[in-house]
Amino acid sequence: MNYLLNILKIIVVIIISSLTFTLFSFYIGSKYDTISLKADREIYGEEYWKINTDSLAEVLLEQMSLDEKIDQMYGEKMINSIPKFFGSYLFNNRFAHIFAGKNNRLNIPPWVLSDGPRGARVLDKEVNAVTTFPVAMARAASWNINLENEVHKVIAMEMRANKTNYAATPCINLLRHPGWGRAQETYGEDPWLLGEFGLAAVKAIQSHNVMACPKHFALNSLENSRWVLNVEVDERTLREVYLPHFKKVIKEGKPASIMSAYNKVNGEYCGSNKMLLTDILRDDWGFKGFISTDWMYGLYNGLDGIKAGLNVEMPWQDEYNYKSIEDGIIRGEIKESDIDKLVLNTLKTRLKYAFSFDSIDYNESIVLRNEHIKLARNAAEESMVLLKNDNILPFKKEKNIKVAVIGEIANMENTGDLGSSNSTPPYVVSPYEGIKLYNEKLNNKVVFDDASDINKAVDIAKNSDQVVLVVGYTYKDEGEYILTKGEMLKSAEAKELVGVKGIGGDRINLSLRDEDEILINKVSEANKNLVVVYVGGSAIDMRKWEGNVPSIIFSWYSGMEGGNALARILYGDVNPSGKLPFTIAENPDDYPYFNPYTDSITYGYYHGYSLFEKYKKEIAYPFGHGLSYSTFKYENFNLVNYNPQDSILYFSVDLTNNSNIGGKEISQLYLGLENSEIDRPLKLLRDFKKNYFNANEKKTIHFKIDKRDLNYFNAEKNKWMNENIKYNFYVGGSSDNVKLLKISEFIYQ
Ligand code: BGC
Repeated sequence: MNYLLNILKIIVVIIISSLTFTLFSFYIGSKYDTISLKADREIYGEEYWKINTDSLAEVLLEQMSLDEKIDQMYGEKMINSIPKFFGSYLFNNRFAHIFAGKNNRLNIPPWVLSDGPRGARVLDKEVNAVTTFPVAMARAASWNINLENEVHKVIAMEMRANKTNYAATPCINLLRHPGWGRAQETYGEDPWLLGEFGLAAVKAIQSHNVMACPKHFALNSLENSRWVLNVEVDERTLREVYLPHFKKVIKEGKPASIMSAYNKVNGEYCGSNKMLLTDILRDDWGFKGFISTDWMYGLYNGLDGIKAGLNVEMPWQDEYNYKSIEDGIIRGEIKESDIDKLVLNTLKTRLKYAFSFDSIDYNESIVLRNEHIKLARNAAEESMVLLKNDNILPFKKEKNIKVAVIGEIANMENTGDLGSSNSTPPYVVSPYEGIKLYNEKLNNKVVFDDASDINKAVDIAKNSDQVVLVVGYTYKDEGEYILTKGEMLKSAEAKELVGVKGIGGDRINLSLRDEDEILINKVSEANKNLVVVYVGGSAIDMRKWEGNVPSIIFSWYSGMEGGNALARILYGDVNPSGKLPFTIAENPDDYPYFNPYTDSITYGYYHGYSLFEKYKKEIAYPFGHGLSYSTFKYENFNLVNYNPQDSILYFSVDLTNNSNIGGKEISQLYLGLENSEIDRPLKLLRDFKKNYFNANEKKTIHFKIDKRDLNYFNAEKNKWMNENIKYNFYVGGSSDNVKLLKISEFIYQ
C-alpha cells in the first residue's frame, strides 16, 4: 500500500513540476516576444548604423558596474534559462531563444544563438519549419564553395527571420576517423577542404549580419566521451593537421566568434586552455571577436577561463558567477582589467552587428522561399557521389516498366541526427517518393518494400526492371550523442553521463547492419539492374558486398529535397558531380586508433589519405573520387610563367569532356612532397576547381598555390619553414596517383 502511495506521490510531483515548468517556460518565453536584436532606433536615431560602435562599447563599459560586466560573460541566468531551455525541449520539442548580454539600463540589445549546419535550428513562434539542406559532409562532397556560400546565405537569412543573430556554425573539426558521430556536421578529412568550406560559410553568414561562430576549437573529433576526453597532440601535428582550417577561417573570414570544444587538449579543457584561446587564437592569428564555450559542460573553473581568455560561458551563468569572480579579484588572482578586456572583445564585436545596416527586412516571408527549396535540391544533386558504375546508370527512361525501391530507410524522413544540427523541414521527399514522382510521367509502377521480410524483397527485385536498394543509417546510429529526456534529468555531471546509453554518437562498427548486408547480396543475385544508395554521414566498410553490386551512390542525408535529387541523378537529368571528402579504407583497421569510450587519446600526424599513402595501406576508394556520366581527360599540365620573386605559383591544365553529355568535373591540385628531407605526407591538397563542361567541350583550368602553403611547421624553432627541395605537383580528378598528371623538379627559392 505504502509502495503504491509513494509511486502516486512521485507521479503527482512529476505532473505538478512539469506543469510549473511549462507555465514558467511560457511566461519566460512570452516576456521576450518583442525583444529586438538591433540597436534601439528611439535612442540611437534612425541612422544608428553610422555610430562608431568601438567607441560606444568603451563608453558603455565605463558605465558598467562589475556585476553588469559579469552579466556580459554568460548566456542567461539559470533561473531564466533552465526552465525555458528544458521547458521548450521537453514540451514543445523546440530549442529556446537564449538572450545573452542584454542590459536594459544601458540599452544594450542581446545576442541570440541558433545552431544551423543544415538549416536554422531555433524557430520563432510564428515559424514552424525552415529550409533543410543536405548535411555539411554532403555539401563538402559537392566541392562547390560557391554553393556553400549560397546555402549559408539562406541559412543566415532564415536565422534572422527566426529572431536569432548568432550562428553556431560551421563545424570545422577534422574527420580523423569515419566512426566520429558528428562526421555529418563537418566537411571531411582534409584541412584544405575544411578551410575553404568553413571560409565560404562564415563569409555568407556574416553578409546577413549574423555573427558566425565556427566550432569546436579544437580537436573535437570524437563524440561519446567528448566531455572527459583528453587529446594529446604534438605541436607540429596541431599546427599542420588540426588547426590550419581554423587559422584560415579566422584570418580570412574574421568570424565574430568561435566556440571552444568540450574536450581537453594536452591536459587542459579547451574552455580554459590559454595556449589555444590566447597564445594561438588571439596572439598568433589576431582573432578580435569573442570566444564562447560549448554548451553546458564547457567550463569547469571560472578563474581559469578568465586567465585563458574565454569571453562567454554558455548557455547560462555557472562558473562565471559574481562570487567567484569577485573573490578572485579580491585575492588578486585576476584583475578587474582582465574582465574589462574580455567584455570589450564581446561588446565591440556584437555592437558592430547590432548597429549594422540591413537592406532586407528579415521577416517570416523570407523562410522557405521557392528559390531556397530549389537550392536545397541543387545542393543535394551536386553532393551525391557516384562511387561505382558498371554501365548501370543512368537508368534508361523506359515506359510502362516496374521499378522497385527497397530498404528499411527507403521511405523515411531521414535528414540527419537529432543533436544540435537538427533542423525542421516542412516536408522531406524520401528516396521512394522522389523515384515514384519521377516515374509517374513515364507511366511506370514503383513498388516500395521495407525489406522486413528479405525473401519477399528479393522476389520483388527479381520481378522488377530497375532496382534501387537504399541502405545506411539514421539518427539512432550516428550523430551528436544526445541523452533521452529521462537520462537528461538524472544527472548534471558530465562525467556521469559518459557511457550512458543515449541516441546517436560514434560508430564503432563501420559495417552496415547485418540484415542490410545480406539483403544487398541476395538482391544483387536476383537482379543486376541495381543501384545501392547509401545514406549516412561518413565512410563505411563495404567489404562484404561491394564486389557483388554493379553500382553505388553515396547520397548522404540529403535534406528535404533529397528524394527528388536522387531520382534526377538516377535517370540522368542531372549528371553526378560529387566526390568523396574522405578516404574509404579497404580494411577499417587501417584508420587511426579510435575509441569512443576512453578519456585519453593521442592524435598522430597521419590520418586520411596522408596515412594511407605514407604507409601504403590499401584503399577501397580514394579521397576526391567520384564518377560522372561524362569522361574527362586532363592534358598539358603546366607551371605558368614562373618567376622566383612571385609569392604565388600559377598552374594550368587542359581539360576535355570526352563525352556527349554535359557535366561538372572537380579538378584537384596536390602538392607532392616525396623529396622532403623530413617526415611529411607524400602529397597534400592545395587547390581545387569545379567547372561545367558542355558535351565535348575543352577548357583550360587555372590553379594557384601560395608559396607559404608549401611550408611545414618547425616545432623547435616554433615557426613555419620552407624546405629547399624539389617539389612535385599533381593534378587530376581524384587523389589516386595513377590517374594524376605530374610536374616535378620545382625548387623553392
Ligand atoms: C554542441 C554544439 C552546439 C551547442 C548548442 C552543444 O551540445 O556541441 O555544437 O552549438 O550544443 O546547441
